[in-house]
Amino acid sequence: MVHAGFLGLGIYLPQKKLTNFELEKMVDTTDEWIRSRTGIVERRIAAPGEKTSELATHAGREALKDAGLDAKSIDLIIVATISPDSNFPSVACKVQKNLGATRAIAFDISAACSGFLYALTTAKQYVLSGMAQNALVIAAEKISTLIDWKDRSTCVLFGDGAGACVIGPVKKDGIIADYMLAYGDQGDLMRVDVEGSRSPFDPDKEQFGKLPFVVMQGKELFKVAVNSMAEAVEAVLAKANLSKKDVDWVVPHQANDRIISAVAKKLEIPKEKIFVNIDKYGNMSAASISVALYEAVKSGAIKKGQTVVLVAFGAGLVAGANVVKW
Ligand code: UT7
Repeated sequence: MVHAGFLGLGIYLPQKKLTNFELEKMVDTTDEWIRSRTGIVERRIAAPGEKTSELATHAGREALKDAGLDAKSIDLIIVATISPDSNFPSVACKVQKNLGATRAIAFDISAACSGFLYALTTAKQYVLSGMAQNALVIAAEKISTLIDWKDRSTCVLFGDGAGACVIGPVKKDGIIADYMLAYGDQGDLMRVDVEGSRSPFDPDKEQFGKLPFVVMQGKELFKVAVNSMAEAVEAVLAKANLSKKDVDWVVPHQANDRIISAVAKKLEIPKEKIFVNIDKYGNMSAASISVALYEAVKSGAIKKGQTVVLVAFGAGLVAGANVVKW
């Protein structure tokens, strides 16, 4: 029987660090407020000309190297992003070209902060069905372009970055369970209001009536985030036939350290088993879990044979969890 698992990991983080103290000079906020309400100390911001496809390519290249694979051996590229370079071509097609992965089919997935897990779960199915041998899954965001840098309620929260992994056949274990869900009826809680296809056909219309900035109802999202992530962890463990005591590590989406603590408390899983790096990067949407997983593995925190739960929540609303036997 075929199993799908991780063959390599990579990340790319833009050089520029934007600290809370720098934000104090941009909006009416304080380092103390940001730290105590979110756990964030600094975040990375892509250079002005740096595109999401470039962040994705750097992370993808490192994952290929880590897996010891040539780009030609990749037959599927999925990029999870809500901040693509443009509507089309997809970021995945640009990565395919940049890496020279000429055999790969390529497409993007839009599932906001749950994007990495949606992409991972999709790639797993390709590998299990035999439609793909080696899949490159990348989560990349230049979310800084979607932020109103005059809105203190959102601009302190987000950062840019990318993480990648190669998913391929393994002898045993690998990604052993998945649980994905969506609550489309609550989509208004976090959105970008620039007009897309809801705008009527009008040849005389001025381009874009509204600015493409993230708006969100933080307090409401906070509650849904805690409940849906806790529910997803319970559900995915039940599917894997495991109990919470079997879990060595939880790698959650990094939206707010207070959300992460509340999920840990609700699940009665010790906070020491939850990997947190939000202090360094803020919320990188789809890229958050991929970068956290990389750091947890490369720092030696996650060890071979351990049981790891990945869990996400984000705009859509979408949520999901996977169990990985590392
Ligand atoms: O990626 C997944 C989707 N996103 C999320 O899951 C985000 C979930 N929500 C959250 O993380 C939190 O709700 C926030 C961090 C966004 C906000 O924290 P909060 O503790 O819920 O604060 P709040 O919105 O209730 O605001 C409390 C106060 C308000 O002032 P008043 O009305 O009490 O006078 C805000 O105006 O803090 C004020 N405030 C700020 N003050 C300083 C809001 N933003 C800031 C700021 N600096 N940056």
